[in-house]
Amino acid sequence: MLDLKEITYQPQTGNKKILDDISFSIHENEIILICGSSGSGKTTLLEIISGLTIPQKGKITWKNKTISARQRRWISGVVFQFPERYFLGTTIGKELKIGHKSLREKNIDRVLKKVGLSGINLTQPPEQLSGGQQRRLAVAVQLMRNPSILLLDEPTAGLDWSMKNDVKNLVLNLKNKNTIIIVTHEPSLFEGIPSKILNIERGKIKNY
Ligand SMILES: Nc1ncnc2c1ncn2[C@@H]1O[C@H](COP(=O)(O)OP(=O)(O)O)[C@@H](O)[C@H]1O
Ligand SMILES: [Mg+2]
Repeated sequence: MLDLKEITYQPQTGNKKILDDISFSIHENEIILICGSSGSGKTTLLEIISGLTIPQKGKITWKNKTISARQRRWISGVVFQFPERYFLGTTIGKELKIGHKSLREKNIDRVLKKVGLSGINLTQPPEQLSGGQQRRLAVAVQLMRNPSILLLDEPTAGLDWSMKNDVKNLVLNLKNKNTIIIVTHEPSLFEGIPSKILNIERGKIKNY
């Protein structure tokens, strides 16, 4: 279980709290949704969970042990908003291998199967994939590291209807096998998938 207790964050440059006393927990292989309007603090919360931002107050535990920001970076796989803008590999195969010195092909096959991209031509550039497939690839890149927690920031943003559905089916595929936190302002799209929906408003959780 990942447990957040009374997380409060105010950037040094700001004069107000972006996150104020946030507490919630997520069990292993659970999927939760975090919703809220633009500017409510969703992305900041993902940055804190994944150890990229350090909160002033609060405690985060994983399996009942406090974990440092560095440890959280290690166990988290974050897919930021519009991940296709940040592909570095000239081919899909290279994109999947980024950061892996030695990698067995079996691992690539396993991950591609998980995201529904089995049999894809690995020598083509990532840009040749459809919008929905590019999002799947971005998730695959994170899954290569076997993260304990997968964090998806607005995974359906900027996609047309059928591609949004593609992303929904991807999450459905990962259900019960991965611990996933999805940030979205389109909760209805994921209806029936998460076990919990948290609403965040101006840095506070409204329904926990
Ligand atoms: N480094 C920062 N310094 C000052 N304000 C920030 C900083 N990062 C984010 N903010 C502000 O914090 C609020 C929450 O931002 P964010 O977490 O990106 O919200 P969301 O992802 O829900 O749209 C916004 O009002 C944003 O302008
Ligand atoms: Mg955001």
